[in-house]
Amino acid sequence: MQRWREARRDPAFALLEGLHPLKHALRFGASIEAAWTSEPGRIKALAAKLAPDVAEGIGALLRPVSTAALAGIASAPLRSPVVALARRPAPGPDPLAGEGRAPFVFLEAPTHLGNVGAAVRAAAAAGAGGLLTTGPHDPWHPAALRGSAGLHFALPVRRVAGPADTARPLVAFDPGGEPLRFGAIPDGAVLLFGTERGGLSPLLKARAGRRLALPMRPGVSSLNLATAVAVALYAWRLGRP
Ligand SMILES: C[S@@+](CC[C@H](N)C(=O)[O-])C[C@H]1O[C@@H](n2cnc3c(N)ncnc32)[C@H](O)[C@@H]1O
Repeated sequence: MQRWREARRDPAFALLEGLHPLKHALRFGASIEAAWTSEPGRIKALAAKLAPDVAEGIGALLRPVSTAALAGIASAPLRSPVVALARRPAPGPDPLAGEGRAPFVFLEAPTHLGNVGAAVRAAAAAGAGGLLTTGPHDPWHPAALRGSAGLHFALPVRRVAGPADTARPLVAFDPGGEPLRFGAIPDGAVLLFGTERGGLSPLLKARAGRRLALPMRPGVSSLNLATAVAVALYAWRLGRP
């Protein structure tokens, strides 16, 4: 458990709380250093039922600890009493420099780590090329990993200084933009989303080639950030042949 405490301050590691994040992390190739549980039998049975493809791997990682010890290190009550320590993937080359039709998600200074996690989850599900954030928060914070159910390992997730120069089209999502029409999101675009309270900065709005609004019923000001990311990504995905 000392290992877990040290890893909290070590950006080389990702802390996974619960079975769901551990399952996804293993499925998408995470290197897990160790996993601790207060109920090995229950976790093995749950893994066999819910994630048979990785159940054997999960069983081999488990180290028993007391209920009190587990409760003392988890950041919130655990529905499935297991925590695991994974190595973060090595940064690798700039994901925007690669080829491919998948869009990228760019979150400008998000403030709620739960939103970051939910956006990562939607991005992984929709097949986005990666998710980039700016601002003070680490997108690999345990609270964000909880929100993504461990799907940070399914695509590149990075904090960056700002949108680097890229040849990819930049598309701003802004409630004040032109209404989104089917097929309007180009392949390979970087989709820009603003902060929860203030929206996109004037700088990013000015840099974007297009400003698109997700249509809303009159009277509704905006969608939640992570919801807007999910809707935009699926508008792209469903608009493709
Ligand atoms: C909670 S909203 C911010 C609301 C902010 N008051 C504004 O007007 O932009 C967070 C982000 O989600 C995206 N968003 C939310 N609703 C949207 C909509 N209807 N159309 C386009 N983007 C939306 C935008 O990128 C926005 O910056």
